[in-house]
Amino acid sequence: MFKVAVIGASGLLGRALVDELAQQADWQVVSTAFRRAGPSRVALDIRDEQAVGQFIEREAPDALVIAAAERRPDICENDPALARALNVDAVRTLAAAAGQRGAWVLSISTDYVFDGTHPPYRHDALPAPLNAYGRSKLEGERALTETIELGCVLRLPLLYGPTVDWAESAVTSLVPAIAASASDSPDVKAATMDAWAIRYPTFTPDVAFVIRQMLERRARGEAIRGIVQWSGDEPMTKYEIAIRLAEALQLEARLTPQHTPTDATPRPHNCHLDSSRLEALGIGRRTPFDTAIRQVLAKFPWQGGGGVGPA
Ligand SMILES: NC(=O)c1ccc[n+]([C@@H]2O[C@H](COP(=O)([O-])OP(=O)(O)OC[C@H]3O[C@@H](n4cnc5c(N)ncnc54)[C@H](OP(=O)(O)O)[C@@H]3O)[C@@H](O)[C@H]2O)c1
Repeated sequence: MFKVAVIGASGLLGRALVDELAQQADWQVVSTAFRRAGPSRVALDIRDEQAVGQFIEREAPDALVIAAAERRPDICENDPALARALNVDAVRTLAAAAGQRGAWVLSISTDYVFDGTHPPYRHDALPAPLNAYGRSKLEGERALTETIELGCVLRLPLLYGPTVDWAESAVTSLVPAIAASASDSPDVKAATMDAWAIRYPTFTPDVAFVIRQMLERRARGEAIRGIVQWSGDEPMTKYEIAIRLAEALQLEARLTPQHTPTDATPRPHNCHLDSSRLEALGIGRRTPFDTAIRQVLAKFPWQGGGGVGPA
């Protein structure tokens, strides 16, 4: 039976992937997590080389998907050692252990490996990361490709999907400010939203579907190697995302566009990823943003949701 190990199954992408793989009745899936380990997720600290080796030896997966990472740019900027441990060294450790057993390794990377000045970016475009997060992910890509031949990097842009906490995604993290700006109180100010950086929000269940299609190739003995990219196809600034969120929530939000970047950590302007390598293989799915975001809002655990509810 084809066996897949999902490393970082408790995260935003990892959960969507485990849900998608559950539909594949003839595959076996083993999930790992760190802080959120539990009955359905094996505890594994990917910084612990010995524990990683024992896990791979015991489980003997045919494929490994690395969705564990430190993906918050501000944390990576302030703690480059942590960023390196998770985004570079752990990728090398996992890939070396999996490689010894002949497993195919798919490692998730980011559009932040590019500087955002010349979109769209093909998979073979020259990376030039602007911040510590992008640099660590680029080094992680290299760690994977240097360590094993049977490996693949999947670059993704801004993700959103079913969430347990607004802050999990830079898309849903806008909700509390949107909701607060819609208050009738005269003391409440408009919410200022970035109208400079162009993003291509990508729905985690679509990415999970793409990964399942890639795993199917591996199961058939046609493993995809090298670098591939997947992206949604609707360009939006955070200001435009906020307008669509407010519509979906039926809130009369007061939003002000901010046309110059204000982030403490430098972020690229537009890293649109060209998805044509996967498209040429017949791989891909894109749910329209307005449909997908309504699914996310409808599934959110609203009891703790900060006083707003879905339309
Ligand atoms: N989110 C985005 O917008 C975005 C955009 C482009 C690319 N990406 C990439 O997509 C991938 C998935 O991101 P995500 O948003 O799903 O991340 P996430 O929600 O922050 O999840 C991170 C995962 O890493 C695990 N983890 C953290 N420290 C660990 C450790 N020491 N040992 C083992 N596992 C550990 C976490 O486990 P616990 O929670 O159980 O501790 C969690 O499962 C990452 O490679 C990220 O760089 C994300």
